[in-house]
Amino acid sequence: MITIRKPDDFHVHARNSYLLTRVWPHTAKVFGRALVMPNTDPLILNSEDAKRYYHQIVTVDDSCEPLMTLYLTNNTTPNMIGEAFRAGVIAGKVYPVGVTTGSDKGVRNFNAMKPVFEAMEELGMVICFHGELPGVNVIEAEKAFLDILHGIATEHPQTKIVLEHVTTADAVDFVIDHHNVAATITAHHLVMTVDDWAGRPHNFCKPVAKFERDRARLLEAAGGGHKFFLGSDSAPHPTSHKEAPVCAAGCYTAPVLLPLLTQIFMDEFGTEVALEQFASVRGAEWYGLPLNEGEVTLVEDPWEVPNCYDGIVPFMAGETINWKVES
Ligand code: NCD
Ligand code: ZN
Repeated sequence: MITIRKPDDFHVHARNSYLLTRVWPHTAKVFGRALVMPNTDPLILNSEDAKRYYHQIVTVDDSCEPLMTLYLTNNTTPNMIGEAFRAGVIAGKVYPVGVTTGSDKGVRNFNAMKPVFEAMEELGMVICFHGELPGVNVIEAEKAFLDILHGIATEHPQTKIVLEHVTTADAVDFVIDHHNVAATITAHHLVMTVDDWAGRPHNFCKPVAKFERDRARLLEAAGGGHKFFLGSDSAPHPTSHKEAPVCAAGCYTAPVLLPLLTQIFMDEFGTEVALEQFASVRGAEWYGLPLNEGEVTLVEDPWEVPNCYDGIVPFMAGETINWKVES
């Protein structure tokens, strides 16, 4: 049995309407706070959208505090950033156009974002990046994006930047080398490599899982003491969108997240101390938030992951996980 401080998930797709009601309770049951991504349909483009979305989420389940983000585009203005900040939005998300689900309206021109990034720098808002360069193949797109991010991080040295869901050893090195850049790491990228998603639509997500040396480096970073923290990127899609000729990108990890992470960390490090730092401490510190008050206990009690939750296939469906959240 282990007990850790109540964790936070700093990157989750809570979706809206029907999906929201089905997926959000899995996150809310375990996590104190969750940074909800703005690539919903419709997108969260301004303070009014964010306020509305916040209320939709807490109406479903208010046991977890949604932390709101804004979807940044080349039409976002510094004024919109100020309004969003006053409405409680804590971060803006940059999706380079075309690289993942819901990124069609994303950023085309990074230089033109300068006034928006300056406004965020002044207000202390975090800029989150989906770090893949459009037009580059899925294996090299993350590494190729690091040049752009280097320019932005050095031009805005006071801005807190998060490189989301890092998948490569190169990205880990980049984060360590840039004082104002931190990174989220998902649970699925700690266990998968290319062979796990090739031909398996439910394991396909963006950025794709890379090679063994990358996975090993991510695990080392997640367990180390440095600027890497949990952002699950739990990204549910209806089965019909996953089991399709062109399958939607995203792994639905919310129902298995903390048990799976506990298994990974206990197997690798043999103690819950590193898990607590990764899931409950470093993210809050980067965002300047107080640590959660409560605790969560996990027990070693193997269970088989269901093949589906409300019509959505979870990560690890049909496989056994050795840890369980004590209810
Ligand atoms: C995410 C989604 O489905 O919204 N998909 C994914 O593969 N991770 C979008 C994202 O975060 O890239
Ligand atoms: Zn995501």
